[in-house]
Amino acid sequence: MDIIKTINLTKEFGPLVANNHINLTVKENEVKAIVGENGAGKSTLMNMLYGLIKPTSGEIYVENELVALRSPNDAISRGIGMVHQHFKLVPSLTVFENILLGVEINKEVTIGNKKIRLPGINRHKELEVVKNLIDKYELNINPDDEVKKLSIGAKQKVEILKMLYRQVKILIFDEPTAVLTPQEILVFYTMLRNLKAKGTTIILITHKLQEVIDISDSVTVIKKGKVVANLATKNTTKKQLAQLMVGRDVLLNVSKTYADYHNQESVYRLEHVSTINRNGVEVVSDVSLNLHRGEIVGIAGVEGNGQSELLDLMSGLLQSTQGKVFLHNQDITNVLPEKLRKKHMAFIPEDRYEQGLCRDMTICDNMIAGYHDSDDICHMGFISAKKKMDKAERLATKYDIRLNSLKDKISSLSGGNAQKVIIAREFASDPDILIAAQPTRGVDIGAIEYIHKSLLDLQNHGKSILLVSSELSEIMSLSDRILVMYKGRIIGQLDAKNASREEVGYLMMGIIDNKEGGSEHESQNVIDE
Ligand SMILES: Nc1ncnc2c1ncn2[C@@H]1O[C@H](COP(=O)(O)OP(=O)(O)OP(=O)(O)O)[C@@H](O)[C@H]1O
Ligand SMILES: [Mg+2]
Repeated sequence: MDIIKTINLTKEFGPLVANNHINLTVKENEVKAIVGENGAGKSTLMNMLYGLIKPTSGEIYVENELVALRSPNDAISRGIGMVHQHFKLVPSLTVFENILLGVEINKEVTIGNKKIRLPGINRHKELEVVKNLIDKYELNINPDDEVKKLSIGAKQKVEILKMLYRQVKILIFDEPTAVLTPQEILVFYTMLRNLKAKGTTIILITHKLQEVIDISDSVTVIKKGKVVANLATKNTTKKQLAQLMVGRDVLLNVSKTYADYHNQESVYRLEHVSTINRNGVEVVSDVSLNLHRGEIVGIAGVEGNGQSELLDLMSGLLQSTQGKVFLHNQDITNVLPEKLRKKHMAFIPEDRYEQGLCRDMTICDNMIAGYHDSDDICHMGFISAKKKMDKAERLATKYDIRLNSLKDKISSLSGGNAQKVIIAREFASDPDILIAAQPTRGVDIGAIEYIHKSLLDLQNHGKSILLVSSELSEIMSLSDRILVMYKGRIIGQLDAKNASREEVGYLMMGIIDNKEGGSEHESQNVIDE
């Protein structure tokens, strides 16, 4: 049975047609993947199915019945649930409280043929319901835990539980694995299989083509707001999907010439730096590293082992409690980000909305933020509106940022296009040193290819890059040297040319001496000289 069917579903934002007569069919109990470039209209389509935005025209059928979905509550009552990429949980509440939030005052019971809204809930009974769901779907989570203490993977489980508790039959995931660690991704796949086995229909938006091949039954390709292909997954390949999405062959792996960094001068150096997080816990401990001219150093590690804080420290956002940082032998310890930018350092932060962009500003202003006083647009303290606009236009074209108007707020951009704004801005500053965290998170394969090529191009021009990524393949294919962080320390380094995934994987688990049988100990630092 077709559990969801859309007919000529269309959404316009002013002159921009984000969804153009979309005919989508989802079969009951299948895993349907939706792929397409950044800005193709995937999230827009899903937001209409979840009642978050209203179609301009067209029809939605759920189980062969024409529906008008005016709100997420409407969608949920039709059995459609959604897990967003940016979770919508209340951190100070427990898992159980989050699950019930919004339901507790609306709980309806039927007595005879009358429906009555109950003012409260039977906590004990509902807790049993939640516990049964946790067991049934093997979610392995404690309902009494506070959400703020949970990992990202666990928070995602709470979002899923929230939907299951509301008895949805169809679950939409918008880029669910973009923010998960490789380990969490495996858990997520198991969870999906469980959901499917118990009868749930799944719609999955993803940029990871291997994921499409591994877990979906069918795939729909969207390009510029239109459906361009419907395929059975078993009859397609990553190459074909890439071609359909982008309209040309995409290099899924870039080729790299390795830098001979040993002979190059050191341009940036950390000497025994440590730092603490907001709770006063030491999260970076005695880290030393050397970045040479023309070298890409990748920092690998399971998320939460200090990489984020190390990057914040290098970007001037976190103060070090110990140790020194040098740029061309000049002490720059605890220098603020704006000063570092003036010294030709550039930063691509991990969380694009928290640290990389200002939601309330226009796309144009975000495109120059941090570099607004550079000579090309600013003269004697005054920014030229025309030059600013010209520059933003040039960058939008060069980086293929799909937008309506540069004067729109940045929040109107699709996720991947927002990331491209940061990439464009930071690359345009022509930095000597680039500190890049998760540079391709949420961007489409065509853009990944472009960003990877641009990083290598920067390197070929003698610039140095520090790269943190949870995509091990990204670290392995771009770096000259790989450092692995574990529990706040750098516990090993490898020449990327000869390194294997297994070797890096062992180090990521804190195992340093795997050749001698896998003894686990936390080492002192390895410093490259
Ligand atoms: N609220 C809005 N106002 C104006 N334009 C919007 C709005 N929401 C989306 N758009 C535009 O609609 C188009 C489709 O966006 P959408 O978020 O659906 O893309 P997407 O396929 O999910 O991309 P990504 O892979 O980057 O997440 C984009 O050009 C985007 O800028
Ligand atoms: Mg999207």
